[in-house]
Amino acid sequence: MSHGMPAEPERPAGSSATVAVYGAYGHTGRFIVAELLRRGRTPILCGRDAARLEAMAVRFPGLERRVAAVDDPRSLDRALDGTAAVINAAGPFLDTAEAVLEAALRARIHYLDTSAEQRAAFAVHERFGARVREAGVVALPSVAFYGALADLLATAALGDWPDADAIDIAVGLDGWHPTRGTRVTGERNHGRRWVVEGGALRVAPDPPPMRTWKFPPPFGTQETVSLPLSEIVAIARHLRCPEVHAYMNLAPLHDLRDPDTPPPIAADERGRSAQTFAMDVQVRRQGRMRRAIAQGRDIYAVTAPLIVEALDRVMAGETPGPGTLSTAQAFDARDFLTALSPEHFSVFFETRT
Ligand SMILES: NC(=O)c1ccc[n+]([C@@H]2O[C@H](COP(=O)([O-])OP(=O)(O)OC[C@H]3O[C@@H](n4cnc5c(N)ncnc54)[C@H](OP(=O)(O)O)[C@@H]3O)[C@@H](O)[C@H]2O)c1
Repeated sequence: MSHGMPAEPERPAGSSATVAVYGAYGHTGRFIVAELLRRGRTPILCGRDAARLEAMAVRFPGLERRVAAVDDPRSLDRALDGTAAVINAAGPFLDTAEAVLEAALRARIHYLDTSAEQRAAFAVHERFGARVREAGVVALPSVAFYGALADLLATAALGDWPDADAIDIAVGLDGWHPTRGTRVTGERNHGRRWVVEGGALRVAPDPPPMRTWKFPPPFGTQETVSLPLSEIVAIARHLRCPEVHAYMNLAPLHDLRDPDTPPPIAADERGRSAQTFAMDVQVRRQGRMRRAIAQGRDIYAVTAPLIVEALDRVMAGETPGPGTLSTAQAFDARDFLTALSPEHFSVFFETRT
């Protein structure tokens, strides 16, 4: 499906197969590099730590490595030279997104990131929209478990409805072994969060409201607490709905609060941990409800197929045009989910009148 953006953009130099991954040696970055290779692209491994980049050669021999720091624009320019796009997997994105996106604009290449932080995603849309359009490229923030997945599920569930009365998202995790990046990002992301209320982004209530949620098996009925992340910003970009809220069950939040919870450990041949998730999205309109649920394994690992699928679609010219877009604004949500299910997660739809 093409919406008029050329599949082979004039400006982006280099091979369309060549993609810079910034933060390549991070936990999520490594999953992304592996997924790019699986799909026949050539990742260039980028990051600020030369020794950690070198260490990646053991697992990914033969890939080019480029050292670059966000406070050194010329190093970023060298890192992106000759690439068609950059995937920014280095977070906190409040510290990296603007510098890497500025470099992408100088290079006139596409930009994608995995931000869960609302303010980082919001800044990409609000501060860069016009310049990204002028450069003729695409910038997609939050193409990850938090951000894109709920955006895609909500948009697919909405289907042919022109608008909704309410969208409620609940994430169920059996536990959460956080990476260092998750912990640092949580500390850095201390500002008040937003929800959509009365049709606009508003500061979320404090203390965060609780709500009982009936997840599908094996999670079942659980208490959840409001935890709005970048999906709120993504959905508010393009769906007409006055109330958008997001919740999470309590077990993973206890894990996160415990400084002794260990980082994730690989438990299968793909390197995924044993963590399981359900992302349950309910869309209501005039007394009817449509629901879309994704269930799978490892919220870090699943981010890789999400962002690389988006990259492939950007390179194929599937977006409605250049500019900053949420994932479900950029692509056909149902088609996108279908492309990843059931290999990477299962998706179910339900309608109630
Ligand atoms: N939205 C989602 O669902 C989702 C999913 C996965 C990850 N994420 C986000 O992605 C980020 C990375 O997570 P992770 O699990 O991969 O953590 P990680 O394993 O700790 O990796 C973090 C990476 O970011 C780099 N980095 C951090 N701050 C940097 C800075 N100021 N300049 C340059 N590089 C910097 C780190 O480099 P150094 O080692 O040199 O510090 C490392 O490469 C976090 O913000 C996390 O919240 C979001």
